[in-house]
Amino acid sequence: MNLWSIQKNGFNISDIEKHGSKYLLGNGFMGYRGTMEEYSAEQLVAINLAGFFDLADGSNWRESVNAPNPLYTVVSVGGVELNLSTLTSVSHNHMLDIKNGIHSRKTVFNVNGVNITIKAERFISMVKENIIALKYSVIADKDITVTIKTGIDKNIWNISGLHLNYVSEIAENDYLELNCETVELKNQLKVCEKVVGFDNINNDNLLHKSTVNLKKDEEFTFIKFGGIYHSESLKNSEKDFYNAVNIGYDSLLNEHISFWQKIWKNSDVIIEGDDEAQLALRYSIYHLCSIAPHNTDKCGIPARGLSGQVYKGAAFWDTEMFMLPFFQFTDAKVARNLLMYRINTLDGAKRKAKEFGFEGAFFAWESQETGDDACTLFNVTDIFTNRPLRTYFKDKQIHISADIVFAIWDYCRTTGDYTILTDGGLKLMYQCIWFFYTYSAFKPYKNRYELLDAVGPDEYHERVNNNAFTNVMVKHAADIFILAIDKVKKNNPEYFDKFDSDLTWAYDFAEKLYVPQPNKNGIIEQFDGYFKLEDVTPEILKTREIKKNEYWGGHGLASTTMTLKQADVVMMLNVFRNEYSKEIKKANWEFYEPYTEHGSSLSACAYAIVAAEIGKIDWAYKYFMKTASVDLTGDTKQYLGSLYIGGTHPAANGGAWNTAIFGFAGVSFTNDTLDISPRLPDNWNSLSFKLNWKGDKLNIKITGNKVDINGITNTKVTVYGEEYNK
Ligand code: BGC
Repeated sequence: MNLWSIQKNGFNISDIEKHGSKYLLGNGFMGYRGTMEEYSAEQLVAINLAGFFDLADGSNWRESVNAPNPLYTVVSVGGVELNLSTLTSVSHNHMLDIKNGIHSRKTVFNVNGVNITIKAERFISMVKENIIALKYSVIADKDITVTIKTGIDKNIWNISGLHLNYVSEIAENDYLELNCETVELKNQLKVCEKVVGFDNINNDNLLHKSTVNLKKDEEFTFIKFGGIYHSESLKNSEKDFYNAVNIGYDSLLNEHISFWQKIWKNSDVIIEGDDEAQLALRYSIYHLCSIAPHNTDKCGIPARGLSGQVYKGAAFWDTEMFMLPFFQFTDAKVARNLLMYRINTLDGAKRKAKEFGFEGAFFAWESQETGDDACTLFNVTDIFTNRPLRTYFKDKQIHISADIVFAIWDYCRTTGDYTILTDGGLKLMYQCIWFFYTYSAFKPYKNRYELLDAVGPDEYHERVNNNAFTNVMVKHAADIFILAIDKVKKNNPEYFDKFDSDLTWAYDFAEKLYVPQPNKNGIIEQFDGYFKLEDVTPEILKTREIKKNEYWGGHGLASTTMTLKQADVVMMLNVFRNEYSKEIKKANWEFYEPYTEHGSSLSACAYAIVAAEIGKIDWAYKYFMKTASVDLTGDTKQYLGSLYIGGTHPAANGGAWNTAIFGFAGVSFTNDTLDISPRLPDNWNSLSFKLNWKGDKLNIKITGNKVDINGITNTKVTVYGEEYNK
């Protein structure tokens, strides 16, 4: 079994959509779906751009823009197009090399008794983020003449209307250029293409055409370079593109591979004894690294990565609560970029708070380039009536602001980099806590603040009071704000002097915010009144469905029952793993597990990690594999009501890493100490990984219960609670 690549032999037309996501390439600037070179919009071709958004005419929402495809290529023989989606092939191999970020295919077609083989290899440069390159070869087993069309294809996948007006085109010999502007904001997008190794070119409609006489068994190969530019990168686009072309395919590929080698050096996790788990975890890490904003703090990571426009290309809490731990422990620069993106979009969060009648910063549930909320009030369409359903994700999923505060502090604690506080982090915290203060209700007769009318992670129960996850998260955020204030006061008094010094309200709020406690059986009620709901599990609920894909939230089937969409209390126990006893974790895990539908890919990892902590290793393993292989199997919900929600699942990818590290390796940390208390699945001989802990680069290998650590210089690391001495 190759543990560094995925591949499939044979072709099934129904896999086109799934494989577009599964074989995705990305470099943080763009994602290129795993489609064939001859495909177009009908086969969901997309070069999805990070942080570049548009509202198409007549559409209800803004979404990320997909760029025209400069790698489009199709070969014809005697008028027959060699298109895998329409012509039966003799054989087909599709491969993604996750070690080096390379996509390839080899397809043999037979036309009139002649076997024609197409080989293509492409990559999106990790070093030159605007550049895509393709090496394309044709071979036939007899002398024949083929026609090759290659150029820029405008016919690409769009979920919600057309986003580009075409402003101008250039076609000069082997060079094509398409200048576009977005419909809504008239932002410019430029796509360049150059083909090398192609003679007798005829240009027509952004396509180079050439007729090639193939000699039996002689390979005809050409190279294509694509350049995609928008925003700041437009300035030097010409220079940048020609620079790449001059460097040439092989050297571009080599520097791209070296970049991936550096990534794997810090990020790889090695599981000995379980190839299936190894590949799934590595594949998850591949996805995280290929969509991470390596060079910008202007965008977050979309909920479906760069696999398309699903969820509008927007960033959710998924980034802070599921992906950020991986980055803060393996690539702090990316983690900082992600958090700076939130700091840079604080004004949008302030506008949102105002819009809903509050003060401070209420971060977008679905965040795009300005931080204004892309989430609509009607997120789901009812499949019975075809009417949009009012959902309250946008106006009531308030925990997002606390998640971001929590993530900034977590970043500070793990990396030791507190400068982010004076780079806007502290101001952001202030605004978020002030928002919660204005949102909360003070109950004088209980002498406590409560958070009423909210939506927790479980979106099936909207507008609930005192959702435990939300209240605990906000309570921690308020405590964190006070700790951060102290830190800045001590280290940067001059910065603090500019701050509003009367923070009495914040101390009062942190002290008196209601935190739901376990009942006599140790169970924490998900929200006020949850225990009184109808005692129904997802299995039973399923039998009540009238139609497939019926939406269970809103006024749907789940709302009056105890069935929940995804980990909620268990998510909270996972986040605050040091603060609840094993008994409480066990009682809640066992109580909530049967009621959880896992209708979101964010759910399984929380159950996996807590299961590992309470000694249910078999369950932990089952949920780990579910989370780690979600994009390999493609086995997830594709529709919410009638809304398409397919694509890659970066939060689950992050959850896979979290489960390996926090669940099985048993890593946990306090302000100054990192502890490792492993509990590996039986079939894992060892687990090795690297962690950046406050500047130390720890190299950790766990074999059974034995832990070996290299790289401790200035930090405190314990194993099963005892100070580690080599
Ligand atoms: C989940 C949210 C998540 C979103 C994007 C929804 O189905 O319920 O928790 O943030 O998907 O991944």
